[in-house]
Amino acid sequence: MNSPTTHRVSLSVNGRRIELDIEPRSTLANVLREKCGLTGTKLGCEQGSCGACTVVYNGQQIRSCLMFAVQADDVDVWTIEGLAQTSTDQISRSAPLPSLPDLAQAFKRNHALQCGFCTPGMLIASACLGQASGGDLDDEKIREGLSGNICRCTGYQGIIESITEVFITETSDLKAMATKQ
Ligand code: FES
Ligand code: FES
Repeated sequence: MNSPTTHRVSLSVNGRRIELDIEPRSTLANVLREKCGLTGTKLGCEQGSCGACTVVYNGQQIRSCLMFAVQADDVDVWTIEGLAQTSTDQISRSAPLPSLPDLAQAFKRNHALQCGFCTPGMLIASACLGQASGGDLDDEKIREGLSGNICRCTGYQGIIESITEVFITETSDLKAMATKQ
């Protein structure tokens, strides 16, 4: 039964509708991790500075440590667990950021992660940046676009190379193919 100290919230997480009884002070990040078991959403600074807790909320990337979970009533949330599924996985591909599985492979190829703590948030921010850019990116724009996501291990070069590979090289190849046809 719904306790007087909690609020019933109904939301979609990774394409599945769920109802949760939530304490008013719980953040969305804590609820995703502790009530939904979605620990790919990391908690670093817990004050909006590091980007480790980034999720997609009604199609926009947000920092889930800065949002109370009760604000998420009737919204659509995607975490790294849902976003990283490929089209052959069981989950429906209604997920936003269809480039994210390719980007995750590029991160592996380019050694764009070491401890991996920043990686879920970094992948989501990178996919948002790449998809919004339409391929109009260079090193400087990528560094600026990811300036809200902190990585303590990699020096960022592998991350930049991955984004370049997926969003600049592939876009250029597609454009070149289209002009030949
Ligand atoms: S944990 Fe949310 S921005 Fe750092
Ligand atoms: S890979 Fe360790 S913080 Fe980024």
